[in-house]
Amino acid sequence: EPLCRSGVWRFHELLPFAKPEQIVTIGEGQTPLIETDGVGKYIGMDPGRLYLEYEGMNPSGSFKDNGMTAAFTHARTIGATKAACASTGNTSASLALYCCSSKLMQAVIFIGSGKISYGKLSQALDYGALTVQISGDFDDAMHRVRQVSEKLGIYLVNSVNPFRLEGQKTIMLRVLESLNWEVPDWIVVPGGNLGNSSAFGKAFHELHTLGLIDRIPRLAVINAQGANTLHELYQGRGLRWNEGSPDQSIIDKYYAELDAAQGKADTIASAIEINRPVNLIKCLRALDCCDGVVREVTDQQILDAKSQVGANGMGCEPASAASVAGAKLLREQGVIAPSDRVVCILTGHQLKDPTATVAYHTADQDEFERVLGSRGVSRAQFANR
Ligand code: F0G
Repeated sequence: EPLCRSGVWRFHELLPFAKPEQIVTIGEGQTPLIETDGVGKYIGMDPGRLYLEYEGMNPSGSFKDNGMTAAFTHARTIGATKAACASTGNTSASLALYCCSSKLMQAVIFIGSGKISYGKLSQALDYGALTVQISGDFDDAMHRVRQVSEKLGIYLVNSVNPFRLEGQKTIMLRVLESLNWEVPDWIVVPGGNLGNSSAFGKAFHELHTLGLIDRIPRLAVINAQGANTLHELYQGRGLRWNEGSPDQSIIDKYYAELDAAQGKADTIASAIEINRPVNLIKCLRALDCCDGVVREVTDQQILDAKSQVGANGMGCEPASAASVAGAKLLREQGVIAPSDRVVCILTGHQLKDPTATVAYHTADQDEFERVLGSRGVSRAQFANR
């Protein structure tokens, strides 16, 4: 049965919005949970306590396929013919793959200028998606695609789409399944548009309500320092879910400050280079449900962590390594204990962004720090070094 071959639709009872015959799947979600003492030692864990959930093994090379299969299935139920997204590269690669595989919809992709890795862009182009580059960054592209899709009635597959998050819940179901339904102490995940963290919170809330788990793991969401809206609002300014009434004035004030300073997100982890996460409020709910913490890590910490993941035989793109860097930081701060059972999510494959990897391993230290330190350095400039 095709549904059994999908790591998402094996759990279709927990995503009850489509009939089995309507499901669109390309065999996503067959991803391993890997116990690794090598990376565990780097973080400071006791042996046998650190696991990496390797979502880069999805058909398009990132966790996005978990959500895309659900969005496509929903789009089919309503008969949509075109689908759009703004993307830092992975959502667009996933959308383009599902479009050309299923032949159900035509893909329209909005990307910001300059800040998309060639690995990701080449996927969208090869899969035949209409790809529009706009002047501006991801936040500008997101704004534009929301306007365009509303005006033209195009189906939007960014994680503002709640069906995407239903699919992404299954990442946690597979983690629990791999651990024989023994709940880990921590889930550590990079934070960009905050879709994953929101979906994970919803998954745990539902599983707990259904009585399938007896406790809820703690959630750690890790921002890159150059794109740290959640960290600033949650840790810095005390923004909380507050039983469904988060203080909107804290958010408005922060965004007004960003506008005034013309603050643009800037990090080597281009996948999470986002200043205005669309799932901010849902993520607050997840943090509330999972006794969450938020941390920020530097580009240097991200790339150091990434090289450790690679050196232990896995490999991931920079944004994914934020989870490992964040776990190390939380361990150093004593928030995570060495004996805790910790699961870090590796969201995207190593081959997504080889430029960052090669630069890290070849530049001499002074040069590397100079490049990292000069804010606003474009991908092309970086590639030319
Ligand atoms: N890791 C990778 C590899 C990503 O591509 C993204 C998001 C994230 C982490 C952040 O996840 O949004 O659930 O907090 N990439 C989006 C994109 C924005 O357009 O591909 P999140």
